[in-house]
This record gives sequence, structure tokens and C-alpha cells, in this order.
Amino acid sequence: KLSPFERSKYLYALARMIQKNSRFLSVLETIDNGKPIRETRDIDIPLVARHFYYHAGWSAKDTSSKNKPIGVVGQIIPWNFPLLMAAWKIAPALAAGCTVILKPAEQTPLSALRLTEIINDSGLLPKGVLNVITGLGEEAGAPIASHPDIDKVAFTGSTEVGKLITKASAGNLKKVTLELGGKSPAIVFPDADIDAAIQGVASGIFFNHGQTCCAGSRLFAHEKVYDKVTEGVAEIAKSIKVGPGMNDKDGSQMGPLVSNEQYEKVVGYMESGKQDGAECLVGGTHDNSNGGHFVHPTVFSKTNADMKFVQEEIFGPVLTTQKITDDDLNSIASEANNTEFGLAASVWSKDISTAHKMAAKIKAGTVWINCHNVFDSALPFGGYKQSGNGREMGFECMDNYLETKAVTVNL
Ligand code: NAI
Ligand code: MG
Repeated sequence: KLSPFERSKYLYALARMIQKNSRFLSVLETIDNGKPIRETRDIDIPLVARHFYYHAGWSAKDTSSKNKPIGVVGQIIPWNFPLLMAAWKIAPALAAGCTVILKPAEQTPLSALRLTEIINDSGLLPKGVLNVITGLGEEAGAPIASHPDIDKVAFTGSTEVGKLITKASAGNLKKVTLELGGKSPAIVFPDADIDAAIQGVASGIFFNHGQTCCAGSRLFAHEKVYDKVTEGVAEIAKSIKVGPGMNDKDGSQMGPLVSNEQYEKVVGYMESGKQDGAECLVGGTHDNSNGGHFVHPTVFSKTNADMKFVQEEIFGPVLTTQKITDDDLNSIASEANNTEFGLAASVWSKDISTAHKMAAKIKAGTVWINCHNVFDSALPFGGYKQSGNGREMGFECMDNYLETKAVTVNL
């Protein structure tokens, strides 16, 4: 019932409170998830605040009286960017005037809980507008997806659970948006700035330990530059310092994977790749002896589309690489598109015409040209094919939380 201006004011205030609490939230996030403190401090939490600032703007600026909040919104999120995923969900829903029931991942509930404490202490939001329920997916998530009084569910996580949510939502036909897995290609043409491509491909896969839905997990490099690119990425992989996330003084650049389940999954994919005949150029090593789940940055060569670990989402710091032997853009695109996913891609070329032609042919919601993993609250993000339905961020995201109403007056 609050006016758009009132909503805008409290979203700005929330953004400022997140900034004030950013040190505490960064430490909490690193302890909970394992990722390096330099990333939670310099990337995750600043992006969380920016996301609230961005959506604060939308609530007062969307003056269309046709748009009405969709109602009660259930939001189920994963553990890879715990507070950022909460922000992607909560900020647009509040901006639209919805009430929220958020379920964080069971592995990483702390930062969302702390955020609600901060909000409660501030007295900013009317009571009951933002609710957080913790628990396992089957126990706390599934009831949200099937609940008859919830009008919309927004989910980020595995494609497998995305399908379960779609089925469970059919009872009251609640609106569903899904942000699911990926197997994103990074395509390097021979005319690319090769040093920049090497850096970009490496951070495209190794950022956040590869636990990123849009990780550039399949490298396609033209045969003229394949050796140089794969060797360059392997060099970077070797140089990445793996260690506990809080060890900033010792310079940990990559922490442990989030859980033993994820560790087993990633190690299993590395083994399956080796069994299928792929060759490990660097990494392939892992260590969970001290209770951490460390997997070293890994690059495989001699991989092809028939291999299980080239088709399925690994969600770890593991890159598979293939040579492009054909200059025909359609055939390059058909290899890059040879996946059930369609979340993102990067294209590396100095020829803007080649890059744009490629971008048009890639079936993915995001195509980066000469960069990878670049996010902005204003840019819509989401998937083709089995990478999901709908878009997050940008005004597209506000649409997820609004119904359009036509009221006709007979004067
Ligand atoms: P998941 O999809 O099981 O969990 C994500 C969220 O969904 C969590 O909050 C979980 O509690 C909830 N959930 C689980 N089962 C549910 C159900 N039946 N009904 C409602 N909610 C449910 O993902 P998980 O098991 O943590 O990771 C498995 C794989 O999924 C990863 O290895 C990765 O490949 C992929 N994944 C993709 C993500 C993305 O950003 N697209 C994020 C996390 C995982
Ligand atoms: Mg699961």
C-alpha cells in the first residue's frame, strides 16, 4: 500500500545500510561460503548495495498506473553468491510493492539472516513484508513452490530442481521465473587480443571457483591460437593461490568449494573426463584432508562434445577446451550451441563485425564481447533453453513482479 516514492526511499535506505554493514557481511559471507574475503569485500557486497540502489530508482520512476504488484512472492536461492542472489530477488520485488518469502540455500543462510536482522532493527519495512525461512530444499523450498497462497515463485539453482518447481507450481498456476544452470562457451578467434583473451577466459572459468552459472566452462579456440591460449590459461591456473577464504594476508585467491557434496561432484567430473580420454594439462588435483574442499584450477585438452563432462554442468574450476578448425561462423556457432543450456557466452575478436555476427548466432541470454562475467544491475540476465525462464536485473526483472491491469472507465 506504500506509495512508489515511499518504497523508493526505503530501498535507498536499505542500500546505505548494506554499505554501512559491508565489513560484517563480507566476513560472514566468506565464513559461510568459503570464497576469498577479497571477493566478498570487493565484489559480492558492493554489488548487493548497487542492486538496491538501482531498483530504488525503478519504484519511483515506473509511474504507469497499469502496473500492480503481483502479490506474495516466494524466492528460492542458491549458495554460490548468497547475499547477491538474495539482492537480485528481494530488491525488485520490494520495488514493485510485493511481499517476500525468501528461502536461502541450506549451505549459506547466514548473510540473508543478518540482512533481515539489519532491516528489522532499522524499523524501515512494514512488518511481514520481508520474511526469511531457512531449511532444506524438500522441506522449506518445495512447500513454497506448491503453496496455493503464493502468487509467484522465483528460483535460482539447478535445472533439475527448476523442473520440480515448475511442476509444483502448476497447482495454482503461480507465475514462475527460473535462473538455472549453464555450460557457457568462450570462443577465441585468431584475430583476438590474445593476452586479453587468456586473462578473460581464465577469470571466466575460475572466478568464484567456477561455481558460477555463467562460467565460461567450454573454451573454443581457433587452431591458429589454440596452443597459445590453452597454455596461457594453464599458466594462470598454476599461479592461482588456493587456500582458506579468510587468509587474505597469505593471499588466498581461491577458497574451498562450498560443500562436500559439491567437492565430490566436481572431482567425479574430473575423473569421468579422464576416463573418456581427455588430457589434464594442469590441476586435476584436490584435497579435502583438512575439512576443506579444495580443488585446484584445472584445464583439460582433447575434449569433445560426446564427453559427459563437456555436456553437463560441473560448477567447479574445470575448463574443457576444443580446437576450432573451420572458419565458417555457422559451424562454430553450432558447436558452441551444442548444449542443452543457453545462459551466456563470450566472443573474443578485434573484428567487431565477426563478434556481432557470432553474438547473433549464439543461443544464450548474455553474450560478452572481449570480456566475460561482466554484470550490471541495468543489464537483463537469464537463459535460453534449459537455462531458465525470464530475466533478472534491468527493467525486465521488474516485469516479473508486476501484473498489467487495464481499467476502462465509461465517462
Ligand atoms: P539446488 O538446485 O538443489 O539448490 C538451490 C536451492 O533450491 C536451495 O535453496 C535448495 O534448498 C532449493 N531446493 C532444493 N530442492 C528443492 C525442491 N525440491 N523444491 C524447492 N527448492 C529446492 O542446487 P544444489 O543441490 O545446491 O547444487 C547442485 C547443482 O546445481 C550444482 O552443482 C550446480 O550445477 C547447480 N547450481 C546452479 C546454480 C545457478 O546459479 N544456476 C546455483 C547452485 C547450483
Ligand atoms: Mg540439490
